[in-house]
Amino acid sequence: MVIRPSPRSLTGPRGRLSLTNSCSRPCIPRSAKATWRCYSDGAQSSESLVAAHIAETPFPVSSAYGSAARASTCVPVVAAPAASAPHPVMHARRIYSAGVPWALNLRDFRTPTSKTTLGRRNMSSTPRLHTLNKNNINQYVVNAKYAVRGELPSRAEKYRQQLAKGYPPTPPEEMLPFHEVIFANIGNPQHLDQKPITFFRQVLSLLEHPELLKHEDVLVNQLGYKIDVIDRARWLLHEVTSVGAYSQSAGVGRIRESIARFIEKRDGYPADPQSIYLSAGASAGVMTVLQVLCASPKTGVLVPIPQYPLYTATLALLNAQCVPYYLEESHEWATDHDAIGKALQDAKAQGTDVRAIVVINPGNPTGQSLSAHDVESVLELAAENNIVVIADEVYQTNVFQGEFHSFKKTLRELQKKQPGKFDKVELVSLHSTSKGMVGECGHRGGYFELINFDPEVVAEVYKLVSISLCPPVVGQCLVELMVNPPQEGDPSYPLYKKEYDGIFNGLHERATALHKAFTEMEGVECNPPQGAMYLFPTIHLPPKAVEQAKKEGRAPDEFYAFRLLDATGVCVIPGSGFGQKPNTLHFRTTFLAPGTDWVNRITKFHKEFMDEFRS
Ligand SMILES: Cc1ncc(COP(=O)(O)O)c(C=O)c1O
Repeated sequence: MVIRPSPRSLTGPRGRLSLTNSCSRPCIPRSAKATWRCYSDGAQSSESLVAAHIAETPFPVSSAYGSAARASTCVPVVAAPAASAPHPVMHARRIYSAGVPWALNLRDFRTPTSKTTLGRRNMSSTPRLHTLNKNNINQYVVNAKYAVRGELPSRAEKYRQQLAKGYPPTPPEEMLPFHEVIFANIGNPQHLDQKPITFFRQVLSLLEHPELLKHEDVLVNQLGYKIDVIDRARWLLHEVTSVGAYSQSAGVGRIRESIARFIEKRDGYPADPQSIYLSAGASAGVMTVLQVLCASPKTGVLVPIPQYPLYTATLALLNAQCVPYYLEESHEWATDHDAIGKALQDAKAQGTDVRAIVVINPGNPTGQSLSAHDVESVLELAAENNIVVIADEVYQTNVFQGEFHSFKKTLRELQKKQPGKFDKVELVSLHSTSKGMVGECGHRGGYFELINFDPEVVAEVYKLVSISLCPPVVGQCLVELMVNPPQEGDPSYPLYKKEYDGIFNGLHERATALHKAFTEMEGVECNPPQGAMYLFPTIHLPPKAVEQAKKEGRAPDEFYAFRLLDATGVCVIPGSGFGQKPNTLHFRTTFLAPGTDWVNRITKFHKEFMDEFRS
């Protein structure tokens, strides 16, 4: 659609266009400024104005920008007289599609007091016109949903800031009915008082400041660093040179070897370091894999429901199809072979090219730990239907019931038992330093292993990760420490073991206490905690509460979660943020927060809520 500039454009006041933050190409002067007669007619006017500064001379871009800008054209920006510019709106559109809007910054516009919204809004203060608005940016970004950091956590953060101002709150009406916010919405252990493991942090401290290694006696005799901490730091520094330097794109070679040894020890089957890719947390690994896998809007990926919203959000960003399959709540949130098969066949019948299945084990938000049989059954399905398995195993050490069955080990065993059938199964297994007893979410460490992939596809994965140069090097070192922790007999082992077991037992105890509290609440049902960091109880809300939610324009579980937050300061995420079977309501809470006071607050709130809405 072509929008023609309004005739009013000829009679506006003066404004100024600045080109800032531009790329280093000489064709985009860093400080170029031009003074213009301009007008205000909403976004259209800004488009026209921007466009007046654009000449469409093809220009070479650096390979990073050129290769990363999918289906886009890089357009150089130069100051040019408006009269000589081709159609302005078309030019502006090129900028948006080129993905380089940061090259332009529109500032300091005086707008007329016209009847336009913008004019009215800006009558009394310095107006500001933005190049970007919600309607002209990438709509896949706009449409992606990520409940874990949505409106509820934002309100929780507002409360936290309010409380941080101290007591008594001023003005007095800001008084909140709680004195502390509990962020039970996200598996972020160290935000909730989980202490970092000493061995990890001591090594990292030396990596960050290698000068300390010149004072070994002080480290050992005054700061209590053990000699294996110092040795490990020296070795890692030797491998990475400096944590301030880029590493190889797929990660540091020796760290990939450590990971391969860890996988081999865990599964009893060899792992190839060349198939292991370090990543900025598991999230970056998931995004890389999905980016490679999603070839068209018809590409589909089977995603468990309920799911961790990274998957639906990334598929939305890539304009690919989420093919939901339901986990079975009545079987402790296990995978259901028939349900997956039906979802797959239905999607295929509708023309979706289903390429992969995501399995989160142990589960988020559901906390299940899959049996060997369930894992086998997913692999069977993958073998029969030629689909890739994406095994998100970031919670592999958070297992309270039974044991963790890795997809890699199960695949190798099936290959041995039934030669031929499973030879072609392609598997991606992801792990992270964010979870488990490590809990170092902020350091963004993770890796994924590609098993049985076509070497040409692997080469493309390599190219893709190369575009972002390398994952954070400190995060990579932390992965090395996670997969290669102190062993029995090492000087750091006793403290490591004490801290590790302390965290594990603490999590298990809190999970059990929270589960017990849920089972005692009216209208709440909850599967026992098996793994991960979450409980995902079903809630049966009285019809009056459902009605009230509707009046307030919220889903019933969202309404419940907001009420809970407002009354107790405990932030949980409604089931609708993860997906749930129709006509069921849930919420997800972590059991990371220390103490039991917050659990008591939930219990009290729930009783009052039910009393208020009981018919
Ligand atoms: C199932 C699952 N996968 C991946 C992630 C992302 O982890 P990371 O911090 O390693 O990116 C999370 C985070 O909560 C998760 O729950």
